[in-house]
Amino acid sequence: MAENSVASQDTYNYKVVRQFAIMTIVWGIVGMSVGFYIAAELAWPWLNFDIPYITFSRLRPLHTNAVVFAFGGSALFATSYYVVQRTCHVRLFAGRLAAFTFWGWQAVIVLAAVTLPLGITSTKEYAELEWPIDILITVVWVSYAIVFFGTLYKRKVSHIYVANWFYGAFIITIAMLHIFNNLAVPVSMWKSYSAYAGVQDAMVQWWYGHNAVGFFLTAGFLGMMYYFVPKQAERPVYSYRLSIVHFWALLFTYIWAGPHHLHYTALPDWTQSLGMVMSLILLAPSWGGMINGIMTLSGAWEKLRSDPILRFMIVSISFYGMSTFEGPMMAIKTVNALSHYTDWTIGHVHSGALGWVAMITMGCMYYLIPRLFGRKLYSIKLVEVHFWVATIGVVLYAVAMWVSGIMQGLMWRAVNADGTLTYSFVESVQAMHPYYVTRWLGGTLFLTGMLIMAYNIFRTVVSSEPARVNDAIPAPH
Ligand code: HEM
Ligand code: HEM
Repeated sequence: MAENSVASQDTYNYKVVRQFAIMTIVWGIVGMSVGFYIAAELAWPWLNFDIPYITFSRLRPLHTNAVVFAFGGSALFATSYYVVQRTCHVRLFAGRLAAFTFWGWQAVIVLAAVTLPLGITSTKEYAELEWPIDILITVVWVSYAIVFFGTLYKRKVSHIYVANWFYGAFIITIAMLHIFNNLAVPVSMWKSYSAYAGVQDAMVQWWYGHNAVGFFLTAGFLGMMYYFVPKQAERPVYSYRLSIVHFWALLFTYIWAGPHHLHYTALPDWTQSLGMVMSLILLAPSWGGMINGIMTLSGAWEKLRSDPILRFMIVSISFYGMSTFEGPMMAIKTVNALSHYTDWTIGHVHSGALGWVAMITMGCMYYLIPRLFGRKLYSIKLVEVHFWVATIGVVLYAVAMWVSGIMQGLMWRAVNADGTLTYSFVESVQAMHPYYVTRWLGGTLFLTGMLIMAYNIFRTVVSSEPARVNDAIPAPH
C-alpha cells in the first residue's frame, strides 16, 4: 500500500510517528544549540558568566542528554513505530500505550532539562538523571517494549524483517543496561548513591556507557539503515544473509567491549585486555554492516548525483565505517595511552554522532515526514544545501578535534632530557584555542543545517499541496 495514501493513514497509527518525528527536529535544534554554546564556552570561557546554571559542567550533560536521548531517542521511537507497522502490515499494538510513550518520553526530557542545570545529577555519564526520573524512564521503556513486541506478535506476515531485529535488540538491551546501571540507594527526593562501589561501579558504568553507544547510537540506527536506505534507493538490501550475520555478530561482540573505557585504571588487567580484543573483533561486524548498507546502491550509484536524501544516508554510513575503524584503533592500549583524556575522543564521538547518527536521522526524516503528512517536500534544493552545510560542519569539527587531541596527548607526554615535563598544562590549553574556535565554527554550520531542515519541514507540513500516491518526494533521478 502506498505510504502516503489515505488508506494507509487509516490503517496505520501515524499520529505517534508524526509526533516523535517532529520532536526529533525540535530536540535536535535544542540539543545542538546547547552543543554550540558549550563549544563557545570552551573557546571563550567568559561565556560562563559566573552563573552556575549555565557553566560548562552543567550544560555539558544537558547537551549529551538532549542530543542522545531527546533527538536520537525521538528518531528511534518514530522510525521503529513506522517500520514495525509497515513491515508487519498491522496497526501499532496498544495505541494508548504508544501515546503514553510519547508523552512520557517528553516528560523525561523536560525533567532532564530542568534538573541538570540545577546541578541535580547522579554523576554517571549518560546516566546523570536522578532516581525518580530513572523510574519514569523504566516505565516508559517497558511500555515501548510492549507496543513494539505486541505489534510484532500480531503481524500479518510470517517473516520478521531484519530492521525489526535491530530495533528489538536495542529495546531489550537498553532496558537491561538502564535498570542495572541505575540501581541506587535514594537518600532524598533528588539524591541517590550507586548500589555499586569503587571499581565495580566503574565497570558497570562503562558496560552501560559503551553499550549505550552500541545499542542506542548504533543498533537502533542500523535498524533505520536497513529499512530506509533500500526504500530511498528503491533497491533491495545488498545481502540479506549478511544482514543476519551482521546482527548476531554485532550483538555478541559489543557487550564485551566496555572495559576499553577504563584502560590503565584499577580495573583488573585481564578485563582491560579482553575489552581491547573484543573491540578489535568488533571491526568485522561493523564493517560487514557498513558494506551491506553502501553496496545496497550497487548498480545505481548514479542516484547519488541527483538525490540529496540518499546522499545523507550514504555519507552517514561512510562515517559509521570511519568511526568503527577509529574506535577499535583507540581501544588498543598503547594508542589509548595517547588518546584518552584528549580531544581525540571528542573527535571520535562526533564523527560517529554527527556523521553517522545525526546524518542518517536527517535522511530518514526527509523520507518520512512528507509521507506521514501526505505532503510534497517543500524544497529538494534546500535538502541539497543542508547536506553540504552539514558535511562541511562535521569535517571541520572532527578534523579540529583530531589535530588538537593528538597534539594534546603529545604535549602531555613530552619530557626533557632531565626528565622534567616539556610543557606545562596551561601551555597545552593555550595551544587548543584555535582548534576550539574551528570546532565551534563546524558546530555552527551543523546547527545551521538543522535550522534549514526545520524551515523546509515546516513549509512542507503547512503546505496545501498534497503528495500524489508514491510522490511524496519528487524523484529527482
Ligand atoms: C552542533 C552540533 C554539536 C556541537 C557544537 C557539539 C559540541 C560538543 C562539545 C563542545 C562537547 C564537550 C566536549 C568536551 O568536553 O571537551 C560535546 C560532547 C558530546 N557531544 Fe556534542 N556537539 C554537537 C552535536 C552532537 C550530537 C548530534 C551528538 C549525538 C548524537 C553529540 C554527542 C556528544 C557526546 C556523547 C558528548 C560527550 C563526549 C565525551 O564525553 O567523550 N553531540 N559536544
Ligand atoms: C567498533 C566500534 C567502536 C569502538 C570499538 C569504539 C571504541 C571507543 C574507544 C576506545 C573510545 C575511547 C575510550 C576512552 O579512551 O575513554 C570510545 C569513546 C567513545 N565512543 Fe566509540 N567506538 C566505536 C564506535 C562508536 C560509534 C559508532 C559511536 C557513536 C555513534 C561512538 C561513540 C563514542 C562515545 C560517545 C565515546 C566517549 C565516551 C566517553 O568517554 O564519554 N563510538 N570509543
